[in-house]
Amino acid sequence: MGKGLAFGMKEAVVSRVSKATDSRADDPKGKFPPAASVPPGRVVSELERHVLLDGFRIVVDLLKSHDCYLVDASTGREVLDFYSFYGSMPVGFNHPWFDRPEVQAELLLAARTKVANSDVYSVPYATFVNTFHRVMGLPPLERYFFIEGGALAVENALKAAMDWKVRKNLAAGRGPRGTEILHFERAFHGRSGYTLSLTNTDSRKTDHFAKFNWPRVPAPWINFALPEPHRTADVIVRERQVEGRIREILDARSVDIAALIIEPIQGEGGDNHFRGEWLATLRTFRGAAGLARFRKKIPGLRGSGRAATRGGSGQLFPAPEPAQLDLGRQSHGHGSGGSHFAPHGTGTSRDQRACDRRRFP
Ligand SMILES: Cc1ncc(COP(=O)(O)O)c(C=O)c1O
Repeated sequence: MGKGLAFGMKEAVVSRVSKATDSRADDPKGKFPPAASVPPGRVVSELERHVLLDGFRIVVDLLKSHDCYLVDASTGREVLDFYSFYGSMPVGFNHPWFDRPEVQAELLLAARTKVANSDVYSVPYATFVNTFHRVMGLPPLERYFFIEGGALAVENALKAAMDWKVRKNLAAGRGPRGTEILHFERAFHGRSGYTLSLTNTDSRKTDHFAKFNWPRVPAPWINFALPEPHRTADVIVRERQVEGRIREILDARSVDIAALIIEPIQGEGGDNHFRGEWLATLRTFRGAAGLARFRKKIPGLRGSGRAATRGGSGQLFPAPEPAQLDLGRQSHGHGSGGSHFAPHGTGTSRDQRACDRRRFP
C-alpha cells in the first residue's frame, strides 16, 4: 500500500485515519451513537417537514449507483444519468478508484478538518494546486483563486475586474468609476449579490431583489432550427447587430464598464451556442474599449471533467486568452483528471482577504 500513498502520508497515518472510522475504538461505552439513518422510503417525507422540496422525487442510492447509472433507493429503479447533478459530478458514480483504502484515508483526512486554505497551508492543498495546474493549466493564466460555488466565483472575478478598472480611472483623474458589467440576455451567472444583476432567465429567481442596472445586450446564439446556409446567415446578421450595440454602449460610456462577461454556451438560458467567430469578435473590444479584462466563463456542463478537456475549452475559444477564466462545477468535484481530492473552500471574508492580497497584475 505504501507506494500508492499520496500527500506523502506514512502508512501509520493511513491506518490511524482508517481506524477512526470505527466508532467503537473512540467511544467504547457507546455514548455517541451515529445519527439514526432515515430509511429510503421516508427520505422525501422527512425532508419535506423541514426544507423546501422542489427537486426531483428521486432518492439517490449512493452505494448502488454506478458508472452513469443512478439507482433510486426508494424503488430500486436504475436510470441512465444524463444529468450528473448539473455537471457537478465529474467521473460518474462510485468510480473504483474510491474503493482503494489509501484513497479513502486521504479523503477522510481532508474532510475531517475544514482548513482555511487561504490562511493556513497544508500538504493536501499544495498537492491539489499542483495537480490542478498540471491538468487544467491554461498558460498564461497560471494564477488561481479557489472559491466554493459558481456564483461566488463570478462575484470574485467581477470584483477583480472592478478593482482593476476603478484604479485605472483613479490614476487617470476620472474618479472612482468603472464598476458596471456588460452582459447578455438569457445569461445565468448565479443568484448571489452582484450576479443577481446579470442573471436574467426565470424572473422568479431575480425579482424583488436589489440589482444594478448594468448594460445588457441580446445574445446572438445559433438557431439550430434553421437549416444551413440560413442558420449561419441568420446568426451573422444578429451578431453584427449586437456588435453595433456593444460599440455604441462602449463609445458612450466605456469609462464606467469594467468587463464583459459571457458563458461560451448559455445553459439555463436555453442551451444557446455561440459561434467561435463571435467569441473572437468580442475579444476585439477589449483593448480598444479599455475593458478591464475579458471574462469568459465555462458553464458547468462544459467544465473541466467529462464534457471538456483543456483542448475542449480551446475549441470553445478560437481566440483564447481571456484575462480571467472561471471554471465551475466539474472542477469543484473530485477526480477531474488526476487528483481525487479537492480541498474545501474557505469562508468568504477570508477569501476576500486573500483576493485583496493577491491582486491581479
Ligand atoms: C453558468 C453558471 N454560472 C453560475 C452558476 C452558479 O453556480 P452555483 O449554483 O454553484 O453558485 C451556475 C450554476 O448552475 C452556472 O451554470
